[in-house]
This record gives sequence, structure tokens and C-alpha cells, in this order.
Amino acid sequence: MTDHPAYDRDLQEIAARLPLIAALDERALEAEYIALLGRKQGRLTEFLKTVLPGLPDGEKRTAGQRANSLRAQLGAAFEARKTALAADAAAKTARGTDLTMPGRPRWRGGIHPVTQVVEEILSIFHGLGFARATGPEVETEWLNFGALNFPPDHPAMDMHDTLYLDAPDRRQNRTSGLAAEHERRERNEGRLLMRTHTSPVQIRVMLETPPPVRVVIPGSVYRKDTFDASHAPVFAQIEGLAVDEGISFVDLKATLAHFAREFFGLSTAVRFRPSFFPFTEPSAEMDVSCGVCGGGGCPACKGTGWMEILGAGMVHPNVLTNCGIDAERYTGFAFGMGPGRIAMNRYGISDIRLLYEGDMRFLQQFADPGARR
Ligand code: DAH
Repeated sequence: MTDHPAYDRDLQEIAARLPLIAALDERALEAEYIALLGRKQGRLTEFLKTVLPGLPDGEKRTAGQRANSLRAQLGAAFEARKTALAADAAAKTARGTDLTMPGRPRWRGGIHPVTQVVEEILSIFHGLGFARATGPEVETEWLNFGALNFPPDHPAMDMHDTLYLDAPDRRQNRTSGLAAEHERRERNEGRLLMRTHTSPVQIRVMLETPPPVRVVIPGSVYRKDTFDASHAPVFAQIEGLAVDEGISFVDLKATLAHFAREFFGLSTAVRFRPSFFPFTEPSAEMDVSCGVCGGGGCPACKGTGWMEILGAGMVHPNVLTNCGIDAERYTGFAFGMGPGRIAMNRYGISDIRLLYEGDMRFLQQFADPGARR
């Protein structure tokens, strides 16, 4: 082969850009047109104007033919792309697409109001030296009731009050280690049920950790309740437990009063009313002065000026004994509260279903503004 003449490379480079034209947008198309066919600096224009006339006669003819045919092809390609872009734009306008419209903000998610309250409560107790503990939601009858000093015929254990599990997998999986463990528990600890409170985790903690113990236990609990404005069949609880030598009711009152002031505000008053729970003796319920009216009485506190927020008491000696803890040497206090109820009081929410139905229009109000864009 002979050497390609110098102009040949020029034309080849221009020709290589031809197939790319069909992918250019409006602005790039215009720039490419000027770069190749522009009247002043277009590469092909320049070729035709200055390079071609200077070529030796033998080459001028072929070069001229090639350059002209290339110009025609380029011209057609630019035309075709222009028409296609215009058709596109017309179609978009017809569909009502407004490209200048601002983007739709996207929801990035936020922390659920009950979880926010749980975390806030746990962090107050963390400051007092309480660690976080958790336990399973499927519990044995023994841990949920018996070990907590419920008498064997207590009505809460009735089939009608508590959700028991059939647990058919235990029968299918007889040979696995887990199944054997379930069978052992069923024999020793009664049937399996959905825990009705977080109190069984007190037992689990005490069985595993010798005193001193200080824990707070968040979790979901299950009751055979109909879902209405004030009841949910599944709801959140936070349990607390402190066991050590020399713990008295004074420690219980001081700890819970401190918590109430930290959480509801320094001017919050608390009061304790005698109550009954099988696993504490004595037992109490704690009220805080209503944060909405400041104690004067309003719909949020049903006119009483007080809101009940938790149950508490001194751990019953039988419960300590059931966990192998010397009840002569050790004492403790325990408490249980419903962070959902507390969130309702704090935010003036009148229907508990709002907290558990997952309606984004409701939940978005509690999200950190950073979660909305
Ligand atoms: N377990 C109780 C309930 O679900 C709440 C409770 C009351 C927990 C008193 C406690 C306590 O630890 O001391 O109603």
C-alpha cells in the first residue's frame, strides 16, 4: 500500500464523528455542528476552503468527492437528530412534563415516637448506672408467671386472657438441639406463651447475674385485648430492676422521682399510691403532675391533675428466692411502665392506634426535620 495522503487522516477523523451525532442532546448537537460544518471554523468547511485547493491535481478530484459526500452525510445526520429532538420535546410537552418543576422531596424515614421515648427513658436510667437487657417475646409460663410469684390459679394465666403457643415445630423437629431444649422447658416450665409483660426478663437477668444488678428492659408485650382507642394487643414496655444489699423503698422513690423530673421537667411533682402486684411487696403506682395543665385538671388528665405512668415495688422475697438469691441478704426494687402511654401524654395523642398503625401522615410529625428533604 502506498502512504495515505495527509488529508486522508483529516477526513477519516471527521467521518468517525458521524455515527455519534444521533446521541447528542440539543446543546451538544449545536456545538458539534459548529465544530464540523461551521462557516468560520468548521473542520470540514476549512478542509474544503483551504486544504482542497492546495492539493496536487491528481488527488484533488477524489478528495473533493469524498469531502462533499461527507458534508452531505453530516448535514443529513444533523437534520435527522434535530428533528428527533424536537419530536421528543413536543411529546413531553404534550404529556405535561414540565422539566423546570422542582424535584419531589423524598421521605428518608425517622425514628418512631415510641422508640424515641424509649431511648430517652433508657438514657436517663443509663445515667444512673442501669444497663440495658432484653429477653424473648415467646416466654414460658413459669418465667412469665410462676417465678414472678403469681399463684398457680391466677386469672391472668387463663387461656382466655393470655396467648398460648401451639408450637407445632417442636413436634416436627424432635431431634434438633433446639427442639430438645423446648421440650425440656415445656416439661419444666409450662407451656409457651407470648409474654404479657417484660417482667419475666427480671427473672432471666437474676438467674444469670449475681447481685448487684441494675437493668432496664425495653420490649414488646402481648395481651388478648381488642385494638381500640386505649388498648393495643401488642405494645411497648420498659421494665426496671435494681437488686443489692440495703436497697430500700427510699431508693425506689428517689430513683423514680429523679427519672420523672428528668423526663417531664424539673417542676414535675410525683405521688405514689399503694397498689398490688404479685412480684412486689409493697407495691405502688406512681403518678406525675399533668404536663399539659400543670396540675389544675384538663382533658388529658381527665380533670385530676395527675397522670399514672408506672407500677413499681420492692421485689418480693419469693421472687429473689426463685432466682437463687438470698432474700435475707439482698433486697431490690422493680418498676414497669408503658412508653406508648407516656408518648400519648407527652404529645397529647388521644388514640393509641395512631402509634401502632404505621400511618406516615401521623408519624412524619415526630421525625427529626433532617429526615425530611
Ligand atoms: N408487669 C406489670 C404490668 O405489666 C408492670 C409492673 C408493675 C412491673 C410493677 C414491675 C413492677 O416491675 O414492679 O402491668
